[in-house]
Amino acid sequence: MRMYDLIMKKRNGGALSRSEIDEMIAGYTAGQIPDYQMAAMMMAIYFRGMSPEETVALTMAMAHSGDRMDLSAIAGVKVDKHSTGGVGDKTSIALAPMAAACGVKIAKMSGRGLGHTGGTIDKLESFAGFTTGITAERFVRQVNEIGISIMGQTADIAPADRKLYALRDVTATVDNMSLIASSIMSKKLASGADAIVLDVKTGSGAFMKTEEDSFALAREMVTLGNMAGRKTIAVVSDMDQPLGRAVGNALEVQEAIETLRGEGPEDFAGLCRTLGTYMLLLGGAAADEQEAESMLDRVVRDGSALRKLAEFVEAQGGDAGMVYDTSLLPQAAIVEEIAASQSGYVERIDCDEIGICSLLLGGGRETKESAVDLSVGLVLHRKVGDYVTAGESLATIHANDRERLGEARERFQKAYHFSDAAPVLQPLIRGVVRG
Ligand code: URA
Repeated sequence: MRMYDLIMKKRNGGALSRSEIDEMIAGYTAGQIPDYQMAAMMMAIYFRGMSPEETVALTMAMAHSGDRMDLSAIAGVKVDKHSTGGVGDKTSIALAPMAAACGVKIAKMSGRGLGHTGGTIDKLESFAGFTTGITAERFVRQVNEIGISIMGQTADIAPADRKLYALRDVTATVDNMSLIASSIMSKKLASGADAIVLDVKTGSGAFMKTEEDSFALAREMVTLGNMAGRKTIAVVSDMDQPLGRAVGNALEVQEAIETLRGEGPEDFAGLCRTLGTYMLLLGGAAADEQEAESMLDRVVRDGSALRKLAEFVEAQGGDAGMVYDTSLLPQAAIVEEIAASQSGYVERIDCDEIGICSLLLGGGRETKESAVDLSVGLVLHRKVGDYVTAGESLATIHANDRERLGEARERFQKAYHFSDAAPVLQPLIRGVVRG
C-alpha cells in the first residue's frame, strides 16, 4: 500500500477498502505514515465523505489500535454514557451517581476539555484530591464495590484516534460526520461497556449545528454500536444555549450537586431524567420508562444519589465534604453581575460564545498543555424566552483577573440577542434514535 495512492483515491471520490483502512491506521499508529500525509487524507475525507462501510472499517481499525478494557470481572450490564460535547454540559457528574444509585454499573472513561467545551475530568478535579488516574484493576474493583468509577482515557485506548483527533484539531477537519462518529465510537467500543447511551447535541454550541446533521450523526453512531454488539441508544438534545445555568468547572459541579438535591435547573434535571431512563432500561435496572423515571426521582428525593456521589468522590481520593458543603469548592476572587444593556425577550444566545467567555476567564484549555482555572465561569440568570429589563442582571461572572473579566464581559454582551416579541421555544429533547 502506498499512502500517496490512497490519498489520490479518496481525493478523486473513491472508496477505501477495509484492508486499506486497516493498513493505513496501523501504519499511522506505528509512526510509519507521517502527519502531513494523514492530514491530506483527513481533508480528502472531509470533502469526499465516507461510505457506511468505510466508517465501520475506520471505527473498528481505531478501536483495535491499542488495548481494550476487559470489564468481564464486573457482574451485570455495564452502561456507558457519552455526550458529543457542549457548553455547561455537566451531565455525567449528576447522572452517573443517579444511575449507580438505581443499581446500574457505571464503568466510564472520560476525557479532558479542549477548546470551549469542558471535560468531565477537569470538572471532577474541583473536588480536592480527586483523581481519575487510576489503574484498570482499581477501576474494576471500585465498580464492583460501589457501582461507579470514572477513569481518565489512557493513552493505550484507541491510540490511533488520540493521534488522529489531535491532527484533526489543528487541520480544520474535526466537524465531519464519519470522522466524529468513528472517533467517538472507537473509544467507546475499546472501553468495554455492554451498552451505550449517547447524548448528541444540536445547535449553535454543538459540532452539529442543524437537527438534520445531528440526527444523521446519531443514526451513524447507533448503527456502529449495534453492529459491534453493544446496545446503543442516542438522544438528540438542544445545545442552542448552555445547558442549565452554570458554565465553568466548579460552578458546574455545584449545579450538578444542586440537581442531586432536587434543586437543579429544569432543563438540566430533565435531560438527566431522560438519559437516565435509557441507562436504566439498557442496564436492565427498570422494566419500562415509567418505572425508570420513578426510580430516578426516588434516588434524588431520598438523598441516595447525592450519597453515591460522595461515596464515588471519596473512593477516588477526593474531599467528599465538598459534596455536602459546596462553599468548599474552588471560589473565584472577583464575583460581579453583567447587566442587560436593553429590555426585551432573550431571543437567542450564541452558545459557543458563552463557552468562549469561560475559556477567556481561564476555565478552558486553549492548548493541550494549558492549566485550567477551576473556579471561574458564569452563572446565567436569563435564558432564551425570558423577559429582561435593562439594567437587570443577565449573569454572574466569576473571575480571578480583571483584564480577562473585561474581555469576557464584552463578549458575553454580544452573545445575547433580544426581541420585542416572545420567541418560539424549542424542546430540549429533539428525539431519540434506537437501533
Ligand atoms: N469527540 C471526539 O471524541 N471525537 C470527535 O471527533 C469529536 C468529538
